[in-house]
Amino acid sequence: MRKPIIAGNWKMFKTIAEAIAFAEALPVQDEAVEAVLCAPFTALSALAEALEGKNIALGAQNIHWAEDGAFTGEVSPLMLKELGVKYAIVGHSERRALFGETDETVNQRLHAALKHGISPIVCVGEDLEQREAGQTKEVVKVQMEAALRDVTSEQLVNLVVAYEPIWAIGTGKTSSAEDANEVIGFIRELIADQYDQSLANQVRIQYGGSVKPENVAGFMAQSDIDGALVGGASLQPESFLGLVKGAHQ
Ligand code: 13P
Repeated sequence: MRKPIIAGNWKMFKTIAEAIAFAEALPVQDEAVEAVLCAPFTALSALAEALEGKNIALGAQNIHWAEDGAFTGEVSPLMLKELGVKYAIVGHSERRALFGETDETVNQRLHAALKHGISPIVCVGEDLEQREAGQTKEVVKVQMEAALRDVTSEQLVNLVVAYEPIWAIGTGKTSSAEDANEVIGFIRELIADQYDQSLANQVRIQYGGSVKPENVAGFMAQSDIDGALVGGASLQPESFLGLVKGAHQ
């Protein structure tokens, strides 16, 4: 049984004060759904404190592969660990498209996270052109194989995959729940081929791309979808709570 996981990706939104106000507006969450907030680095420390006792996990939006070193502007797994970070988004399409993230650096970041007990939320997904050319599965396969390079069976269960078709991010267009389930089922098959079926059945795979409180239940009702990675609709407390509520089965 895979526990549903709703993760808010705040992207480059929310000052420290705004993050604290958000956390203060949230009631304590129950155990049925795992709720995660991936905040900007600057707000993580304050948010960790504000979320104390709320049963909401802290997440980062990126993580560097080295423990320290001459990497101007980067944040290391040790620094995140010290703040109580439990999850780190790795390989978001915005980082791939705008900041030179490659399949290779995604794999390096993923290993760094796992080594330090932080669960990576690894993002994969096709763009519109690839979608229209019928290349979705091919693209996702290449990204998944590269991301999972040298990941052991023991490590695998600590990882979360987010399937985020790029054309559905921030556009208001969503994949149909059935289409998303098909791709996510395919990702699970890839994992089963590389490891085994019972491990693949334990890995949580989220859908991301214009998920809202109104459509989340439709995705969650699908056999292979275990949660959502949400941008815009995670920015207001009521909306975030609506997403978590919609993930209760
Ligand atoms: P939206 O929910 O705003 O479409 O963003 C999705 C996303 O990129 C989450 O990582």
